[in-house]
Amino acid sequence: MSGMAMTGGVSSLLLSKLSVLGFEPLGTILGKGLFAKVVLVKEKSTEKIYAFKEIFHPGKWCKTDEVRGECQAASLPDSSNFFLKIRGFLTANSGNSLKKWHLVEPSKLKECSDDYIVGVLSEYIPGSENLFDFNEKRTLTKKKVCDIGKQIASALKEMHERGLIHRDVKLENILIDKNGKIKLIDYGLSRSLRGGRANTLCGSMGYVAPEIYKRETHGVKADAWAFGVLLYALAFDLYPPFIEMEDVVLTPKNTVEFADSGITIEDLFKQKNKSLINSELGRDDAFWTLLNKLLCHEDKRITVAEALEELFLKEQAHEESTLIEISHSRLHKFLPCACL
Ligand SMILES: Nc1ncnc2c1ncn2[C@@H]1O[C@H](COP(=O)(O)OP(=O)(O)O)[C@@H](O)[C@H]1O
Ligand SMILES: [Mg+2]
Repeated sequence: MSGMAMTGGVSSLLLSKLSVLGFEPLGTILGKGLFAKVVLVKEKSTEKIYAFKEIFHPGKWCKTDEVRGECQAASLPDSSNFFLKIRGFLTANSGNSLKKWHLVEPSKLKECSDDYIVGVLSEYIPGSENLFDFNEKRTLTKKKVCDIGKQIASALKEMHERGLIHRDVKLENILIDKNGKIKLIDYGLSRSLRGGRANTLCGSMGYVAPEIYKRETHGVKADAWAFGVLLYALAFDLYPPFIEMEDVVLTPKNTVEFADSGITIEDLFKQKNKSLINSELGRDDAFWTLLNKLLCHEDKRITVAEALEELFLKEQAHEESTLIEISHSRLHKFLPCACL
């Protein structure tokens, strides 16, 4: 994008195209990563506000029919409240020359002959935060961890039932609104398994399942692993102890060794985090039973649908009490990587 003027957070090229399509960028950047930027836009005719995700290097990430398929499936009008309602995809018909631009409805995407998705227009959730920012500002109670966990598992279960795998489940990809309702976002690495298994090395470091690191094929249980990492991070403001930092580069080696060893995550936690053993979730048997079944070798791992049947997520009446006194400085963000 170098050399391109930026207006209201959107490149001038996109701005002119959005304007032709009847949208005005409002200058607020909701989020920015390596591959995309999300900005607020207003539809001029209706004054409605939307989130517009501009995808960088669209040709590289979004040109295959497969990727379009997931975007479409995850945004079906009858999809549950756990997913963002996608209004349309901004597409271009000829790669870098970007001669013709269209806003294509999700249901029409499969029929569309255009090559590239350059942006996604979706519902804006006012007052929402992603779970990373939300977690950083608050000390979560056990009830809250359970409540958030249940909703995330329900969203993933629905995706999996449609034959889709998310592959980038992490704190930053969950929105939580003012009423505590979650939405799973960012289907950039999602794909349809079509009854088979996937084999691309992808995900965000720290959340990648051992079978992906091992370059074996993977299925929906890779999301169950990432869900386990996310629960652990919410509970302890730490990532699981098999993750090792080498400056900023994380090594997959420990994850794979851990999964192959048969050691439970509970044992590893108790060896490495003695100060947290007596925290409310640190001594919660139902929580550890769930994590032990999520953070393990794929052969032994439960699915997210099974996780919903586990005692910790089934229990309704958790007591409202403070989890642990934490400084909220130990978690860090991981960028997705399509080829680690
Ligand atoms: N519809 C939305 N409403 C409010 N905030 C959003 C919305 N979509 C994305 N965001 C914010 O933008 C961030 C990046 O969005 P995401 O789709 O995950 O893009 P990326 O591919 O760059 O990770 C999210 O973590 C969230 O904070
Ligand atoms: Mg994201």
